[in-house]
Amino acid sequence: MREAIPQPSGDDREKLLERAMARHHYAGDSLIEILHTAQQLYGYLSPFLLKTVAHRLKLPPSRVLGVATFYHLFRFAPPKPHSAAVCMGTACYAAGATELMAAIEQCHPDPAAWSIGAGRCLGSCGLAPVVICDGRAMSRVTPSEFEARVKAAG
Ligand code: FES
Repeated sequence: MREAIPQPSGDDREKLLERAMARHHYAGDSLIEILHTAQQLYGYLSPFLLKTVAHRLKLPPSRVLGVATFYHLFRFAPPKPHSAAVCMGTACYAAGATELMAAIEQCHPDPAAWSIGAGRCLGSCGLAPVVICDGRAMSRVTPSEFEARVKAAG
């Protein structure tokens, strides 16, 4: 007899995750695909979600956590409404990405609303320095342009 699934919520996401696990026959070697589906559904992998997947796939929670933390594509905190990633590739670095990052941190975007980080070369080196802001590329970014973007976002 199967153990009861912990109930995180009353919405359809739980059913969809269960279907995804069933589609993979609750196979442990489908863990990455199932974690990917879980993240697509919930936006991130909470400890509760990781434990639920471990339970349903009959895997040790330490293995599920180990696999999830190995891959950079998984998130463990809710996504923030806004994000900015400053490219720190060679061309962007030479064009002042470090100074831009310092200026961005100085303009104090609301930490509850903004996720600020560094990224790798985006292949748009001729537009350096590049910032991916809310999924869109900003080219030849100056600190004042970024500050204006933060203010426009609210
Ligand atoms: S180094 Fe920044 S886009 Fe290539």
